[in-house]
Amino acid sequence: MIQMNNVHVTFPGGMTALHPSSLHFRQGEFTVLLGASGAGKSTLLRCLNQLTPPSGGSITVEGLGSLDNRCRLHEHRKRTGMIFQQHQLIGRQSALANVLLGRIGYHSALRSMFPLPLAERRIALECLERVGLLHKALERADRLSGGQQQRVGIARALAQRPHLMLGDEPVASLDPATSHNVLAQLQHIGREDGITTVVSLHQVDLAQAYADRIIGLAHGRVVFDGAPDGLTPATLQAIYQQAGHGNSAPVTPVPPTTPIYEFATIED
Ligand SMILES: Nc1ncnc2c1ncn2[C@@H]1O[C@H](COP(=O)(O)OP(=O)(O)OP(=O)(O)O)[C@@H](O)[C@H]1O
Ligand SMILES: [Mg+2]
Repeated sequence: MIQMNNVHVTFPGGMTALHPSSLHFRQGEFTVLLGASGAGKSTLLRCLNQLTPPSGGSITVEGLGSLDNRCRLHEHRKRTGMIFQQHQLIGRQSALANVLLGRIGYHSALRSMFPLPLAERRIALECLERVGLLHKALERADRLSGGQQQRVGIARALAQRPHLMLGDEPVASLDPATSHNVLAQLQHIGREDGITTVVSLHQVDLAQAYADRIIGLAHGRVVFDGAPDGLTPATLQAIYQQAGHGNSAPVTPVPPTTPIYEFATIED
């Protein structure tokens, strides 16, 4: 669905955050990026919609072609949902108004200044329903719990009718049960709609529970790419190696002890 060919990123000043990497992300696949702080996870994610422009190499999207063209990049971004650690909602606006923001790419700047048509509101309500928050549609976003806010963020991304969903540490500020809840929803919706999903995580146990595929990064290089059951102590060691490369505090891989929750059974 999306193919990176020899993509690399060197920031001004000479820091190479991503060495030449060729990766193919298949439609409907749930990929988790693991790696120590500074390994290049966010850089790789942001390359996929070129929020961080690659210094070299090419990215090709099925049905669109190479992203070296502005129109194609615009089209690709319109259909790429992004969710963040801090869900970046407008706190004083309702959940519904926040989700409607996901529709803006489908309208001209002028059109977006006026209330969007009923059909758009219907799409936004459907998206809230899919994350189990229809009953909170008119609640101010800042009155929702952290997990609910993150789910509004997912609904907003879904409203884009995405073919690609990118999540940069989407559960970093959530408790373990809520983290399971949010990842289970992302996995479920991704499978149902065939959305290619790529998220970065710091929790190995969560990656093993939800990923179809894990990509391990160390110092800007892919050091593991495979199914979760291929993660051995040796591969974890390779992913989280620290010595002498100037990365920050070590991250201890977490053994898979936390129970896996069904999202439907968790608080709304
Ligand atoms: N805009 C930038 N300019 C210069 N260097 C940058 C920039 N963004 C990131 N870097 C550097 O690139 C490297 C990779 O950063 P990146 O944010 O991709 O890591 P990460 O794996 O997402 O880390 P974390 O787990 O802490 O979020 C780091 O050394 C970082 O300092
Ligand atoms: Mg990051």
